Amino acid sequence: MGLSSDARFWDRSSRKYARSAISDQAGYERTVARTRALLRSGDRVLELGCGTGTTALRLASDVRDYLATDVSIGMIAIANEKHTATPIPSLAFRAATAEAIAPETAPFDAVLGFNYLHLVRDLPGTLLRIHGLLATEGLFISKTPCVGDMNPLLRLALPPMRAIGVAPYAGVFRATTLIEHIRAAGFDILATENHATKGTDNRPYIVARKK
Ligand SMILES: C[S@@+](CC[C@H](N)C(=O)[O-])C[C@H]1O[C@@H](n2cnc3c(N)ncnc32)[C@H](O)[C@@H]1O
Repeated sequence: MGLSSDARFWDRSSRKYARSAISDQAGYERTVARTRALLRSGDRVLELGCGTGTTALRLASDVRDYLATDVSIGMIAIANEKHTATPIPSLAFRAATAEAIAPETAPFDAVLGFNYLHLVRDLPGTLLRIHGLLATEGLFISKTPCVGDMNPLLRLALPPMRAIGVAPYAGVFRATTLIEHIRAAGFDILATENHATKGTDNRPYIVARKK
């Protein structure tokens, strides 16, 4: 079990994921607006775990270059279909993980990961990789579920659901631990925000800056 089985899970889920509605549209709009305000028109941006490209298609025209990536070729195929229907010259989609981004593609001014970090197998290693892909003082922006802060019953349900192929791999960490890991990878934390407009927010929006 590893990256290729994760990619297969998301490939299988991609059409259904594309059809599913955003659970908190107003919260999502806050995230898009806040992120847009943090990006500058001359920026080179990398998005990791971009899924079907919804956020990339919202943000890419505001920056110089926007490379949106995902481990799943199924997700990227759907993103490219959407991009063909709504072309944005600064945007490119590519099937890739943080580890597979060629060093010559870097440095980026900002790296974005939405609903992504809880899915990586080696959180400290991926954060170091992200750090390496950023320019000095570049921004890393994340909003991801912190399963360790959620209902313990969910944590118990995850392994059997994973075993029968109906749930993906998910790391179990709390927001406090995630922030410690981001700091340990060489970042200053600039902001930790809650963007949800309903329910308890276990998906902190974190803005970090490479030292
Ligand atoms: C829950 S979806 C989120 C998609 C999108 N960012 C959003 O917020 O709608 C998670 C995405 O992360 C991708 N993913 C999972 N593990 C990954 C990894 N190690 N590297 C890159 N992408 C990954 C999946 O293929 C999937 O498209």
